[in-house]
Order: sequence, then C-alpha cells, then structure tokens
Amino acid sequence: MLLPSVLVLNGPNLNLLGTREPAIYGSETLDDVARLCREAAERLHIEVDFRQSNAEHQLIDWLHEARTRIDGVVINPAAYTHTSVAIADALSAIDKPVIEVHISNVHKREAFRHHSFVSPIAEAIIVGCGTQGYVLALERMATLLAAKVNKVAK
Ligand code: DQA
Repeated sequence: MLLPSVLVLNGPNLNLLGTREPAIYGSETLDDVARLCREAAERLHIEVDFRQSNAEHQLIDWLHEARTRIDGVVINPAAYTHTSVAIADALSAIDKPVIEVHISNVHKREAFRHHSFVSPIAEAIIVGCGTQGYVLALERMATLLAAKVNKVAK
C-alpha cells in the first residue's frame, strides 16, 4: 500500500539547531529532529521527506515539486515566516494541507516575530512546543490525511 507522503521543510538557520541560541531553541540538532520525525512517521504509517535550506528560492522550488508528489506539508519557515510573501504564495499554490511549526513561542518574543505570512494558509499552527512540535504536527497531519482517505472511500 502506498503511504501518504509529507514534506517536512525547514528554513534558514535551522541547520544550526543545537548550537544556535540553545536557551531559545534547545540542544537538539536538526539531525535529531529528522530522527524524531522518521520515528513518528513509522508509528503513524506515513512517509516523511525531511529537508532544510537557507535559500528562499530552494524552499520555493521544493514546494513547487511537492504540488504533485506530496500529500501534505509541515513547514518551519524560520525567519521567512515573517518576511516571505513568496513562500506564502508557493504554499497557497499547493492544494494540500499545510501545518506551520515554530520551536519557540514566537508570541513571547520580539514583536516582528508575531506576524506570519504563512499562518493564514495553514490548517494548524504549533508554536512553543520545542522540537516535539514537529511530532505533534505529523500526528495532526496523519489525522487530516486519514480523514481525507475515508471521505474519498465513502
Ligand atoms: C523559529 C522562529 C523564527 O522567528 C526564527 O526566525 C527562527 C526559528 C522557531 O522555530 O521558533 O529561525 O521559526
């Protein structure tokens, strides 16, 4: 049976997780997060394609590719959350559920982090749950995708 496929996309500076401002982002590395996602995916019977880029155009190209290949997107757009109309447009062009994740509670931080161009497009937003937020997002995504399959089957 073909498993539902979820793109887990990470934006700029998240490659530095573990060493970058650990008081805010914790001590786990991006590889640790990828492992958490793969473990969750196995348990949830979904497939994850886990990627990170510091380049806006690369994230957009991956989102374009995902339009036909992927069933849902979990995205931590990092700083592009607050600046990128282009990433928001690329997400809008995908007719698949999108879940936005932030490791830190952006609402407890500087005012410029309170606005997200992605949130109006997202089915759900998970903030301030640390790296567990990725697992919570995948759990929710698996529920959304299962509901879709059941609807089609009926
Ligand atoms: C972040 C929050 C953003 O404001 C910041 O620019 C990041 C990480 C988070 O996961 O908490 O790079 O998205």
